[in-house]
This record gives sequence, C-alpha cells and structure tokens, in this order.
Amino acid sequence: MNVSVTILVENTTPIPGFRGEYGFAALITVDDKKILFDTGSEDALIKNAAAGGIDLAQINDLIISHGHFDHTGAVIPFLQTAPGKKVYAHAGIFIPRYTVWGNFRKAIGVPFDFQEIKRNGAQFVITNDFTEVYPGVFVTGEIPRKTPYEDVGGSFYVEVGDRLVEDQLYDDMSVVINHPEGLIIISGCAHAGIINTIEYARQQTGQKKVRAFIGGTHLAGASEERMQETIKALQEYDVEQIIACHCTGFEATMKLRNALEDRVMKGETAMNFQY
Ligand SMILES: [Fe+2]
Ligand SMILES: [Fe+2]
Repeated sequence: MNVSVTILVENTTPIPGFRGEYGFAALITVDDKKILFDTGSEDALIKNAAAGGIDLAQINDLIISHGHFDHTGAVIPFLQTAPGKKVYAHAGIFIPRYTVWGNFRKAIGVPFDFQEIKRNGAQFVITNDFTEVYPGVFVTGEIPRKTPYEDVGGSFYVEVGDRLVEDQLYDDMSVVINHPEGLIIISGCAHAGIINTIEYARQQTGQKKVRAFIGGTHLAGASEERMQETIKALQEYDVEQIIACHCTGFEATMKLRNALEDRVMKGETAMNFQY
C-alpha cells in the first residue's frame, strides 16, 4: 500500500506561489485512489491545486470532516470543477452553527445546502458510522467521546429553535488508513479530541500501532491539564509522527514538540508526506 498525503490548504505555507488560508484540505492518495479531504474556506484549494499541478477532476471522492466553513468553503467550487463525485459526510453537517464571544455571534456552518450538492451532480453518502471507503481506507463517522479531559475545543453553538445550545460537533470524523506500518489518521479539526480519535481508530481496525496523525487537533487554547494528558496518551500509544496543523496553534504545537521532539512537525500548505 502506497500512501501520499499532500496538504492543499492550511493556515500558512512556507512555499512561494502557494496560499495559506484559514482551514484545512488534504489530497490523500492510496495506491490509485485519490481522495480530497476537506476544502479549506475560500479559493486557496483551487489556486494551490493549480500551483501544484494537481488536476482536481482526477480526484475520485470528497470526504468532509465536519460542518464548519473552514473545511467546506470550497465544496461547491470543487464539485463544479470535478463533477459526479461521491461526497462522504456525517448527516449532521448542515445544522446552523455559530461561534459566540460576548455579544458577537458569527455563523460558521457550511455555506451551502444538501440540494446544492445534488444540483452539482454529486452523490451524497452519509457516513455516521465507521465505514470502509476503499480496502483499508475508512472514515470514522461519529467518534465516541471517552476521555474526561478532551472537549470540542472552543465556543461553538448550534441553533435549536430560537436558542443557541452548546455544539458537541458529533459530525466530526477523520480518515483512517490501515497501512502495514501502522494507522495513518487524517483529521480536519479533531473536535472529538485527538486521543478519542486515535483510540476509536485503533479499536475499530484492531491495529494498535499509529504511524502518523496529520491535521487539525483543536488544541489551541487547551488547558495545561488537557495538554499534559494528551501528551501522556500520545507517548503511551507511541505515535510515530504528528503533523500538527490548522487549529493546533503555535503554543500547543510547541508543547507537543518539546515533549515528543522530532516526532512532531508543524504541517503547512504544500507539504507532502509519503508512507
Ligand atoms: Fe477548522
Ligand atoms: Fe472546526
């Protein structure tokens, strides 16, 4: 099994000619299958694919990690560029979502609806549960929340009637590849918690070794207790490589790096990892 993960959208980039953009998107290639995982928030996906010589029309499927704008902002432009794709996501991605600071409220949900996906010729595949997409390639669906120290990682709300209630982001899901060297897990924001995500992937596949965790971890702003417990669990699981992106933030990335040394790297737009 040959796996390649190219970060197509991340908040920053070290490579001239590519764009950093708030959000996350990755091109995952497993042998001859090409999967787009998330799309970033605006037009960086299309521009970065062009800059990297990647033909988006050649991609087989789109997997949406969860219903936040910074992962779904270019879903419709992608489907217009690459029609007739399967779109895998949890059924809960379309719920109206907000972030709230004091009196300030900002809509952060997906900028399209189900009908718009269908109008663009895509097939919407609901994956609420752990699902095999290709041999050895899975989407987690909803991830059980087991650890006492992890939470969704921010001030997130959903609209229920005329009230806002705390959003548990049950639609958050990751991609899991059961590679001979161990699991390769790619997350959007890991609102379920990085440790809950790893634990669920290990439990569902029976593979205990984790070769790599790539993506957002939502550890930005995490408590010291959460950071320490997370680091302890990553050490216990002996995770070989962590490519911390997007909502991990500088401080949490540095804490991970200090504790786990060169197993940890900041992932940025245009980086490629092969297994
Ligand atoms: Fe995000
Ligand atoms: Fe998110």
